Amino acid sequence: MRFFVPTDIYVEKNCVKNHAQNMLAVGKRAFIMTGRHSAVMNGSLDNVTEVLNAGNVVFQVFNEVEENPSTDTVRKATLAARDFKADFIIGIGGGSAIDAAKATALLLLNPDVDADDLHKVPSHRLDHAPVVAVPTTCGTGSEATPVAIITNHKIGLKKSIPHVIFPELALVDGKYLAFAKKQLIVNTAVDALSHMVESILNVKSNEFNRMCPEYGLRLWGECKDALLSEKKIDEGLYEKLMLTSTIAGMSIAQTSTSVPHGMSYDLTVHLGTPHGPAVGYFLAAYTEVCGKFVPEDVQKILSLLSLGSVGEFAAMLRSLIGTCSVTREMRDKFAASMKVNRSKLDLVPGGISPEDVDYIYEKSLIVEK
Ligand SMILES: [Fe+2]
Repeated sequence: MRFFVPTDIYVEKNCVKNHAQNMLAVGKRAFIMTGRHSAVMNGSLDNVTEVLNAGNVVFQVFNEVEENPSTDTVRKATLAARDFKADFIIGIGGGSAIDAAKATALLLLNPDVDADDLHKVPSHRLDHAPVVAVPTTCGTGSEATPVAIITNHKIGLKKSIPHVIFPELALVDGKYLAFAKKQLIVNTAVDALSHMVESILNVKSNEFNRMCPEYGLRLWGECKDALLSEKKIDEGLYEKLMLTSTIAGMSIAQTSTSVPHGMSYDLTVHLGTPHGPAVGYFLAAYTEVCGKFVPEDVQKILSLLSLGSVGEFAAMLRSLIGTCSVTREMRDKFAASMKVNRSKLDLVPGGISPEDVDYIYEKSLIVEK
């Protein structure tokens, strides 16, 4: 059994400031990658640049990372980072910013690799520049994983690139959630929930690496009522939600995600569905199917979430993220492509049949009349 997360992770209030020396030790020329607005609004960009200024680390900000970052964006960022002579990359934001930072860190040191070739499996391990991750949403867990999900629009592919890129340093502060919309917090928390459920219902799950998702699911269960309520989330829960998300990232760093994530990508690429709901729509039916071979694991998940049945689990997810409608033609097309996605199907404990795949789509998506 093995447990491997080589990232130096701090989870605490004001941790960017508190651990300034750790960030300053990473490099001398920082290329900061983030989205258009949120890092300015929630103060995370200011927190990081104050530390860099005080430590005489020069920096350049690239604020063009979009949701579901593309190979084109990563290429553009890499050219700018190379011009700037960056020696490390800081990703500030949700999974999109951190994943784009990882891919840019890889291309920065590999000028022979084009961004559109990022998904090709390399014949040998490629080096990457160090990455610092400052998450501002509570779902991706990318600060604690080697994964970077990048979209290549030219071939309609949203997938993790096959390179292992753990951040060197992760500074996780719940206070940035204060500026996020409630539905964004809910959507990203559903992503974190999926990471932990898919990590347990996984052939790579074992007694050792389960310590993360089991602890994280208990924490998630403690946030459940606040997520379901109409009210604004109490500030006291921000740090717990962020911690849960990082633990969920540590969970999939050991096992990787499974079928619900595999199914989600078509919804995002073809319908623009945000990542958390796109995964969450499939989660209850996947759990039900896994119950055939690993009923004790399903029971464990439900009890950690204080839920009585898979039906209650499905109802909770519907309250959080609603439902998703697609045409029959689309659903059949998505199911057909999932049936050959061995990298995800082979992770299902006890195996999964084509009929099970159809069943999950039938239960999870509403067919438009
Ligand atoms: Fe995810």
